[in-house]
Amino acid sequence: WGKEGHIMVCKIAEKYLSEEAAAAVQDLLPESAGGELSTMCPWADTMRFRYHWASPLHYANTPNVCNFKFSRDCHNSRGQQGMCVVGAINNYTDQLYTYGDSPKNNLTESLMFLAHFVGDVHQPLHVGYEEDEGGNTIMVRWYRRKANLHHVWDVSIIDTVMKDFYNKSLDTMVGALQTNLTEGWSDDVGHWENCANKKATCANDYAIESIHLSCNYAYKDVVQNITLGDDYYFTRYPVVEKRLAQAGVRLALILNRIFDKKKADT
Ligand code: ADE
Ligand code: ZN
Ligand code: ZN
Repeated sequence: WGKEGHIMVCKIAEKYLSEEAAAAVQDLLPESAGGELSTMCPWADTMRFRYHWASPLHYANTPNVCNFKFSRDCHNSRGQQGMCVVGAINNYTDQLYTYGDSPKNNLTESLMFLAHFVGDVHQPLHVGYEEDEGGNTIMVRWYRRKANLHHVWDVSIIDTVMKDFYNKSLDTMVGALQTNLTEGWSDDVGHWENCANKKATCANDYAIESIHLSCNYAYKDVVQNITLGDDYYFTRYPVVEKRLAQAGVRLALILNRIFDKKKADT
């Protein structure tokens, strides 16, 4: 996602944090965050040039197939296993489980990376095809504007939805997603939170969902230089809204498990 997508995911997550998790997050946030996790959630993208090693941690690509297999697909260009968005989520979760073990274990960056990558694994095209780099090399028009398919899903659909439905206001859109979570999607939320893995996350499942959505929605009927307009927009924006909400709920779930666990075993 772009900056706005990441902020929305984290604003939703903040509302679902337990007291213990909210306190731990406050403790770990840098001064500059102003007490809000959401302000730090886009941070990992600003580091993509400084932390070269972290660039592949934002996504995973498949060999142009509609399924995701960790052992086959989660690696960087040098073939190092686990160097993809799913491995990153599990790795930073493991690191955060050490919270409180030693006084100033620096877990601030671990939290900021985790919050960002849980957002990214829910952007369908962050689990896309290797051949087109998750839609980055597919040139399209978004209405009259030149864009690439990846950017349409990171930014353009969200911008258009905010403009069309939410007065160009991020907070209004977050409020609408929250209302949907308690009303329209309330029957699904329990299912989204269903994660039987005891200590690990269910990031692998979220990646599988994403490649399915990439095939069934993002890539569907798209060819080079196509113009995407109302037909595409009205059938795809509900997917974007749902993925943002799911990412927020699941980020809170992961953080609650990490930090409530601490309390449970002391
Ligand atoms: N670069 C290469 N593949 C990518 C993807 N799926 N998402 C984001 N950036 C990428
Ligand atoms: Zn992206
Ligand atoms: Zn990212």
